[in-house]
Amino acid sequence: MEKILIVDDEAFIRENLERILAGDGYRPFSTESGEEALRLVEEEEIDLVLLDLNLGPHSGLDVLKKLREIDPDVLVIIITGYGTVESAVEALKMGAYDYIKKPFKADAIRLIVKLALETQSLRRTLRALKRKSLDSVSSADMVGSSPELLQVFRQIREVAKHETATVLITGESGTGKELVARAIHNLSPRSQRPFTEINCGSLPFNLLETELFGHEKGAFTDAKTRKIGLFEESNGGSIFLDEIGEMDMNLQVKLLRVLEDRKFRRLGGVRNIDIDVRIIAATNRELKVAIDEKAFREDLYYRLNVFPIHIPPLRERREDIPALLDFFLKRFSREFKKRMKEISREALDLMTRYHWPGNVRELKNLVERICIMHDVEILRPEHLPTEIWGQGPSREMPSTIDIPPEGVVLDDIIAQIEKDLVSKALKITGGNVAKTARILNVPRGTLRYKLDKYGLAAEG
Ligand SMILES: Nc1ncnc2c1ncn2[C@@H]1O[C@H](COP(=O)(O)OP(=O)(O)OP(=O)(O)O)[C@@H](O)[C@H]1O
Ligand SMILES: [Mg+2]
Repeated sequence: MEKILIVDDEAFIRENLERILAGDGYRPFSTESGEEALRLVEEEEIDLVLLDLNLGPHSGLDVLKKLREIDPDVLVIIITGYGTVESAVEALKMGAYDYIKKPFKADAIRLIVKLALETQSLRRTLRALKRKSLDSVSSADMVGSSPELLQVFRQIREVAKHETATVLITGESGTGKELVARAIHNLSPRSQRPFTEINCGSLPFNLLETELFGHEKGAFTDAKTRKIGLFEESNGGSIFLDEIGEMDMNLQVKLLRVLEDRKFRRLGGVRNIDIDVRIIAATNRELKVAIDEKAFREDLYYRLNVFPIHIPPLRERREDIPALLDFFLKRFSREFKKRMKEISREALDLMTRYHWPGNVRELKNLVERICIMHDVEILRPEHLPTEIWGQGPSREMPSTIDIPPEGVVLDDIIAQIEKDLVSKALKITGGNVAKTARILNVPRGTLRYKLDKYGLAAEG
């Protein structure tokens, strides 16, 4: 039930308004004093204030200013008795939502209040939407069909159904933890409610604390107005606590209490506020190790780990690589209006073998970079950076050579291997000496000497 505060020095007007508003299902409060009005806004979570500008010692404008300091979200409609609109215009500049002239009709009040409250709820929804980054708009599509990822999809669908179950998502950096968190929210019955996120590693302790819990006006020196924290803002929805492993120990205690009691207080506040929020936490840290190192609370870990989802690194689900490449190639060539639409066999092999320490994020960034830099139809090995050529299991190939009973001539065998590798590298680079030297990790001079020795041809 929305709370509406009436501030007017005329008892008749107050009573009249109270009656109209109560009749429409709102909960009215009223007072004739500016100070009392400020107190009520501070204590009662008022949604809307109907404020007479013509208030005794405190001018209405003064009260308006202080109201907005206490709660920047509160809607104020000015009631003006003068017949002049000048001070009402002044009030609009100071953040009042609208004004109405005395004498007014009951229907006019009803309408203006209804519209104002609708605007406010829209504003809140918009604010929640804005928090979702551009990336998340298309976040429904997680690409891949490896058994490992299919298992993750199953878990997402399952936990989405359980509205308030706490989820802990683990996986290396860039594996898609944030995508999973958003998917859980979007597939849940809470999808129309806010999804908020915060990176617990990016803020110092006290800032993170006020971001999460909010504060009252005057809670500390810089608290000039009331601030609503994320737990309140995401009420009815989900809050995504990213990098939970980085959270300060003191804040961990506080979070644990919130998880246990399902209520909290704003900093400097006296009222317990109930929360109805699904908590989704994520980390790329081994929390078990952090617990051993006394950097993470074990009790909090068990509270969070109600429904664990682990996303394996990309190198443990290489089957997903071709589909991901295809997905990002289409996306970026469309975005940058390029022709690239295919990947050559050799380039695909290299990328499938690469160990992707930055996981899907690295793959995505790479495809983006290639699409920006080149405008060709087929992505070939020469478009790939050296780290993709230089790493992977191919390094271990020589160990597969066996020694026959009659023995080997070591120098000859090594020379054959060397020749074989050099010519393969030449093929990959299209005969480019500089690139060939780079992927073989030898100086250019050394490579030239070997080309000579083996009678191999190169360009440049
Ligand atoms: N399966 C997938 N399909 C499509 N895009 C993906 C997939 N997995 C990850 N991505 C993309 O890769 C990038 C990194 O993913 P995300 O931000 O979710 O990783 P993260 O696990 O949260 O990483 P970090 O621990 O570094 O925060 C994002 O742009 C995301 O859209
Ligand atoms: Mg992330």
